[in-house]
Order: sequence, then structure tokens, then C-alpha cells
Amino acid sequence: MKILVLNGPNLNLLGVREPEIYGSQSLLEIKKLLEALAISLGAEIIFYQKNGEGELIDLIHRYFQEVDGILINPGAYTHYSIALRDALLAVKIPAVEVHLSNLYCREEFRQKSVTAGACIGYVAGFGVDSYRLGLIALVDYIKRREK
Ligand code: DQA
Repeated sequence: MKILVLNGPNLNLLGVREPEIYGSQSLLEIKKLLEALAISLGAEIIFYQKNGEGELIDLIHRYFQEVDGILINPGAYTHYSIALRDALLAVKIPAVEVHLSNLYCREEFRQKSVTAGACIGYVAGFGVDSYRLGLIALVDYIKRREK
């Protein structure tokens, strides 16, 4: 089973960027952690971070026929990218949205996700564990669906 893991803008700066909100772990550390977790779940991840909206959409187009699911932290695109939402809806493979922070404890403009409605589920507020929990839930969903 293959999972495409997509990270949106500014997530390349994790560890440096507002650590009181996003934690001290770097994106590379998250990647390594997810790779190990994926192996233990019998899956494989393809991991990207892109700052551009179009670049994220291009990756969805490029990979949707060869992956079983998408784990995505769209970063700020969460709150306004209808194009990213449309891409997730277009490919019809299960996606899970994750966020390090709990959006409902933050500014009002972050309290709306336009992309989460294109996903089967959503995990937020647990820091790096949001990614872990999201991957576990996504793999589990795909396995149950395959039975
Ligand atoms: C984020 C939350 C977004 O509002 C923000 O723009 C990010 C990170 C999170 O993981 O908590 O870039 O997606």
C-alpha cells in the first residue's frame, strides 16, 4: 500500500517556525517517523513539501493512480484553496487532513477548512501525533475497504 504525504507552505520551516505553536521537530524528523510507522503498518510513503498551491495539485495529479491514499497538511491553503479541494475531490482516493495545531483554538480565519470536506477525516491539535494518528487511520480505512 502506498500513501502520498503532502505538506503545504512553510512546513519546510518546522522546528524554526513558531515552535510554541508547531513544536520543535523538523519536517525531516516527521518524515523519518512516518516512514518507520508506515513500514510497521505494511505501507510505504511518498513524502513531499511544496510551497506552491499548483505544485501540490500537480503532485496529486501525478500520483493518484499509483497511491492508495493521501495524507495532507495543506498549511495555510487549508483555509482558502478551493483548487486544492477540487483536486482532492477529482481523484477520488481517500485523503486525511492533518494539522499540528488545533485550528479551533486559533485565529478566526483558521477556524474554517475548505479542504477537510474533501477528506474522509481530519486530525488536528496533537502536534506530530496528528500525522501519526492520521496515517494509522488512513491505512486502517484502506485495509478495511479492501476486505
Ligand atoms: C497548520 C495550520 C495552518 O493554519 C497554518 O497556516 C500552517 C500549519 C498546522 O499544521 O497547524 O501552516 O496547517
